[in-house]
Amino acid sequence: MNFDLTEEQIAVRDAARDFAQNVLKPGVIERDRDQRFPHEEVKQLGELGFMGMMVDPKYGGGGMDTLSYALAMEEISKVDASTSVCMSVNNSLVCWGLEKFANEEQKLKYLVPLATGEKIGAFCLSEPEAGSDATSQRTTAIDMGDHYLMNGTKNWITNGSTASVYLVIAQTNVEAGHKGINAFIIEKGMEGFIVGGKEDKLGIRGSDTHTLLFNDVKVPKENRIGEDGFGFTFAMKTLSGGRIGIASQALGIASGALELALAYSKERKAFGKEICKHQAIAFKLADMATEIDAARLLVWRAADDKDQGRNYDQSGAMAKLFASKVAMDTTVEAVQIHGGYGFVKEYHVERLMRDAKITQIYEGTSEIQKIVISRNLIGKI
Ligand code: CAA
Repeated sequence: MNFDLTEEQIAVRDAARDFAQNVLKPGVIERDRDQRFPHEEVKQLGELGFMGMMVDPKYGGGGMDTLSYALAMEEISKVDASTSVCMSVNNSLVCWGLEKFANEEQKLKYLVPLATGEKIGAFCLSEPEAGSDATSQRTTAIDMGDHYLMNGTKNWITNGSTASVYLVIAQTNVEAGHKGINAFIIEKGMEGFIVGGKEDKLGIRGSDTHTLLFNDVKVPKENRIGEDGFGFTFAMKTLSGGRIGIASQALGIASGALELALAYSKERKAFGKEICKHQAIAFKLADMATEIDAARLLVWRAADDKDQGRNYDQSGAMAKLFASKVAMDTTVEAVQIHGGYGFVKEYHVERLMRDAKITQIYEGTSEIQKIVISRNLIGKI
């Protein structure tokens, strides 16, 4: 077993770290406060090749492995999880889903501008009444002969207003249950497609999370992805990889919090010595570092499973389940170590604590990860 990174992986990690520290950090508190999307920063990420990292270079991507992507996600998320969720959705849900399952014509038209970061994508599965219970899709796309007619509402959509390409899951045959679901490529500007309200969130406030409305949207037949009825499998397979991205995000939030807590505890003095020299704080740091390393091993294992062509449904779910808990626990402790300073925005850890929570919810809640993991162990109950 070899845990050494290649020169290329180290270069990717370092480039992401430089970008996070030099470009993202300066405005991160203000973007969080004002709920401002990092337009300029995401554009630069695209120019650096971070928006389509794993996509084949022939479609404008970086041709990198999943581990490189996980490393970059960790570094970006240490500083700005609002930017990293935009990056994660574009890379692992939208670009990967298109590269793996779209036809050549769709790839040339949609994947290329998404992989280069020229356009941003969104993944639209959740609905007001279909979150964890993803087979209960209410959005319909009825076959009208020469087109599909789409009606319904999607919510909690990351990149909701910034995206220009949307992968939308909809029911085309209600009687057929999950086998009557399809995935479609929807473009911003299609008649009847409306970007609705923006959510005012606890965390990842710089990301734009919106409701989307589809009112008699005429979807061209050629915009369906894959064979008829493939949509639910498409969503599940795509989310399996997405979960590695969110696990990496959680890992980054946790390791960012540890870095801040460590630095603060080495400077801050109480009772005549630096607080890191008090066992109460030293043991917290030890626990945080151990849990973060364990989370990193799970993330790297899942990334390696994907890179080696092994099944990663289980390892990705485990990585997300564990890393998101570590993100939550570690950020709470980082605030505690900072004392009163941890409770104010200037010291960053309160934002990391708020950002950590969503990693236990989106792309499958922790409870959904446990369903996936337990079904792999014992089958469907
Ligand atoms: N790959 C391929 N197929 C899969 C699959 C996978 N990973 N997981 C399930 N399926 C298939 C099953 O085999 C089954 O097909 P068959 O009947 O042909 O065998 C079909 O899908 C239905 O599966 P289940 O019977 O297991 O369905 P279920 O209703 O019992 O539960 C679930 C499925 C795993 C709970 C699923 O609903 C799920 O993952 N829910 C969570 C949804 C989710 O993660 N939402 C996140 C929203 S996206 C987001 O957050 C993006 C963002 O913007 C950040």
